[in-house]
Amino acid sequence: MSDVRYTLKQGLAQLREAQVPSFTLAAELLLLHVLGRDRAWIYAHPEQEISDIDAARFFALIARRTNGEPTQHLTGKQEFWGLEFEVTPDVLIPRPETEHVIEVALDRLAVRELRAGRKQTLTGKGLQIGDIGTGSGCIAIALAKELPGATIYATDISSAALAVAQRNTTRHFVSDRIRLLECNLLNGFIDRGPANTGLSVAPNVEHGSRIKEHGSYSFDLIASNPPYIGRREAATLMREVRDHEPVIALYGGEEGYELYADLIAQAAAHLKTTGILVLELGHNSLPAVQPLLDTPTWTNVAVTNDLAGIPRVLAAERL
Ligand SMILES: C[S@@+](CC[C@H](N)C(=O)[O-])C[C@H]1O[C@@H](n2cnc3c(N)ncnc32)[C@H](O)[C@@H]1O
Repeated sequence: MSDVRYTLKQGLAQLREAQVPSFTLAAELLLLHVLGRDRAWIYAHPEQEISDIDAARFFALIARRTNGEPTQHLTGKQEFWGLEFEVTPDVLIPRPETEHVIEVALDRLAVRELRAGRKQTLTGKGLQIGDIGTGSGCIAIALAKELPGATIYATDISSAALAVAQRNTTRHFVSDRIRLLECNLLNGFIDRGPANTGLSVAPNVEHGSRIKEHGSYSFDLIASNPPYIGRREAATLMREVRDHEPVIALYGGEEGYELYADLIAQAAAHLKTTGILVLELGHNSLPAVQPLLDTPTWTNVAVTNDLAGIPRVLAAERL
């Protein structure tokens, strides 16, 4: 038997030796995971003995991390917007820069409410929101938490990803307000003509079915973090990403930005007048994507940089 401090030190040394990025954090997270404890506990109890079984489990995870498996696949979780999400190899691991999508979406909705002369407290009452390419469900669920009155329609082309998203909606008690739909971009939403009212959709995942909607302009907000890496960039990706995250979640095409044209055209057809589009961008997507919004359909186009100064979020309003 050895203690917490010694075990952590050993694991950390193995990860450092293998040049694993953020090796200290990774070793800590794996030990916390094995012991079922939080960070404060391990630093408050450095001399606590660890059983041989727990030590063996910890070093097995250290070996897998050394071989390139992401820490989040080993612990099965990742935090996003202050919420803990289940992640598996079927979904993209939520990234901190995607939190800018939530920030921009909430800011834009607040401004829209003010302009409409409505109260500043944004509950999202009556709002219809689309999250296209939901993956783990992180964008849809963060928005559902922030906007308790909103209904959210989250699509993904991957049924395996939607199964994870569904579990995350349950985990965060928002499954009654998030409808999951397996489809290509917004293809699952049919224009039934202006005479009908209201969106109608059965709860939970709808495999290959279509959501019936009342007209072309149904959503108040469409947010998306689509796959945007170029296949030609694959060799430059970290092995944790290239070898372990889903291909369908990573690559948008040879260049990376190929999905945006269809996504923007479909969003134009499904947003209400004054509806908001918020898109996450790849590190070099802006020059290819921004001109797609340079049409009479869109106004108030703005770019938000991430903390690294990379143009990360493109937002616009439908005229
Ligand atoms: C970059 S991941 C984003 C996942 C999640 N929204 C996030 O921000 O972490 C892109 C997601 O889009 C899905 N996807 C890829 N192509 C799609 C398509 N044509 N239609 C709908 N979803 C698609 C992938 O399966 C993946 O879950």
